Amino acid sequence: MALVTMKEMLEDAKRRRYAVGAFNVLNIESLQGILEAAVELKSPVIVNIAEVHFKYVDMEAMAPVVQRAAQLAPVPVALHLDHGLSLQTIVRAIRCGFTSVMFDGSMYPLEENIRLTKQIVEICHSVGVTVEAELGYVPGTESPRPNGTEAQPEFFTDPEEAERFVKETGVDALAVAVGTVHGLYKGEPKIDFDRLAEIARRTNIPLVLHGGSGISDEDFKRAIELGVCKVNVYTQMSIEAVNRIKRRLEREPELINFPELLLEAKAGIKDVVKRQMEVFGSAGKCESPSPLCNMCRACRLGRLRDREEAPQPASDERLIEVISKAIASALREWSHGD
Ligand code: 13P
Repeated sequence: MALVTMKEMLEDAKRRRYAVGAFNVLNIESLQGILEAAVELKSPVIVNIAEVHFKYVDMEAMAPVVQRAAQLAPVPVALHLDHGLSLQTIVRAIRCGFTSVMFDGSMYPLEENIRLTKQIVEICHSVGVTVEAELGYVPGTESPRPNGTEAQPEFFTDPEEAERFVKETGVDALAVAVGTVHGLYKGEPKIDFDRLAEIARRTNIPLVLHGGSGISDEDFKRAIELGVCKVNVYTQMSIEAVNRIKRRLEREPELINFPELLLEAKAGIKDVVKRQMEVFGSAGKCESPSPLCNMCRACRLGRLRDREEAPQPASDERLIEVISKAIASALREWSHGD
């Protein structure tokens, strides 16, 4: 099966200096657009489900769909919780079989962010789930803002704090605030590359750029060269999906078949994802033989007729036992911390 942890995927990206795109899914068509792009370009891919999107997407219902699609895809896929805001959401994601989670403690003061992130890392690592955290604050929302958002330098990631944060929490990947915003930009995005380089030097772990819509190809390439291994993209996909639907309705104002519009949205999303995969350098990285084959084995498994040969996941009982123990200990600590 091609469902892999984000940690192993990002290790390859770091070693071979490219970035894996993490694209938000909201429905089956967006998932199909993303996976079709990945398969056509032979690219690893991260499928994001964001807590801020829970009003559009049912995480418990969508996770098995992503897992099934990932099993069938001949490329490695990580199923990732984007901007998880609480221990409860993280645990729900683990139970759904996410291979990685982001705990976004950026609204907390440094000490609290470290304390909470560390606990989440302990829980997630006990069941082999990768953890991304955020230090500093990337402003904006996941939805396009008509007026755009501005980066706020006072919330940029401090390289010294990043070094301490990574050491003390044990996170696998770090989302940094270096000038990007979620949603549309007010004015030109201006990335603080010196800061990014210093964070990369001090932390030496895969760095994550949120707010990938609206960044120039040159800036992406420079950021990836400096240590960015994962880029989150959503707004551009949404804009392209809506534009495709508008154009179709302009051409065919009488159209009443809504699945046709969903297919337009899917095609728009696929175009954006393909373009970004080329820019991020992940396109072609699954061309066999590839170091990714060691973790993915999707092509080989795809050829297996005998299902018995496929590796079996850990039993539910074992997972429940490990998770319950870790949660009980974390909850005890959280209540003492109050
Ligand atoms: P954009 O919506 O700005 O592309 O950002 C996506 C993101 O960072 C999701 O976490």
